[in-house]
Amino acid sequence: MPERLATEPRIRVDVLLDDADRRSGLLDETFWSLREQPKQISPLWLYDEHGSRLFDRITRLPEYYLTRSERGILRAHAAEIAAAAGADTLVELGSGTSEKTRLLLDALRKEGTLALFAPLDVSREVLLSSAEAVAAHYPGIGVHAVVGNFERHLNSVPAGSPRLLAFLGSTIGNLVPERRERFLGEVAETLEPDDRFLLGIDLVKSPDRIEAAYNDSEGLTETFIRNALTALNRELGSRFDQAAFAFEARWDAAHEWVDIGLRSLRQQTIALPLLEVDVSFAEGEFLRIEVSSKFRRAGIEAELTSAGLRLERWWTDAAGDFALVLARRVR
Ligand code: SAH
Ligand code: AVI
Repeated sequence: MPERLATEPRIRVDVLLDDADRRSGLLDETFWSLREQPKQISPLWLYDEHGSRLFDRITRLPEYYLTRSERGILRAHAAEIAAAAGADTLVELGSGTSEKTRLLLDALRKEGTLALFAPLDVSREVLLSSAEAVAAHYPGIGVHAVVGNFERHLNSVPAGSPRLLAFLGSTIGNLVPERRERFLGEVAETLEPDDRFLLGIDLVKSPDRIEAAYNDSEGLTETFIRNALTALNRELGSRFDQAAFAFEARWDAAHEWVDIGLRSLRQQTIALPLLEVDVSFAEGEFLRIEVSSKFRRAGIEAELTSAGLRLERWWTDAAGDFALVLARRVR
């Protein structure tokens, strides 16, 4: 049964991933990912309620140009996007606070087509508070929030027609290429012929600017990344010692991604009671928490094409830092 928020009857909430599912999925994945080379944990560990709030603060840092650049593109082109999509439903994957999304909602409302906003995110608290805020600000539309994983639950997003499926913020860059390929294939399968896919991507640029965006002077990114280790300790009953790891976010030119995680400052063995294993780190060994891939037009166009999607429009900000891509399914 869909849940309805007591405060707002126009909001329907589908919980496809409750706390227990999320936790058991993460424990399972962590058991295997700590055996990979390099050792890694899922970036999903980043987005508990505290982590989602920290990310929101990151988007306002002077060094973190991504959000400002994407907002600038949306300001300049939301009307064109809305006209091209003519969507009655706006689905947003990894929606977070849905703050920039209001530019799309405004444009679709002006276009006269908008009936439903459907944000999907794993982070329940942030999702519900932004769903409430959107419902309050746009009294004429329905809101159907989905607590779910965009790598597993695309087939459960609301059906409306035509839909605009937005995936903003360059969150796609946090998927490694094999996962990106699977995800884009699922997007292509989900789209109906008249639907559109709007994808925000951060572009390759000077490594110094990219590294600065992930090594901010306030240390907020470090706090955000370390929060994943705190979440791991809470959920796994482990005792990772933050002081025994150094934060690192480095441009990897070969993969064109920022490799972000924690480097062990000494040889250490940590017990993971809930997984019934120990994990050992050599001095200097890296624990990857996320990658943040940067894109070039030719590369993303090829990825879309091989997934069965066709790039229709491409917009960047004046500096060429960030791009928005509008794509549709190849018939
Ligand atoms: N779209 C927003 C937020 C980006 S932060 C913006 O552009 O600013 C990434 C968001 O994706 C977070 O809200 C996080 O909770 C969510 N997220 C990350 N991985 C996810 C997954 N596998 N499934 C669903 N949501 C996910
Ligand atoms: C959500 N995602 C696109 C962010 C990024 O830039 O890769 C996550 C982030 N990690 C550190 N700062 C921001």
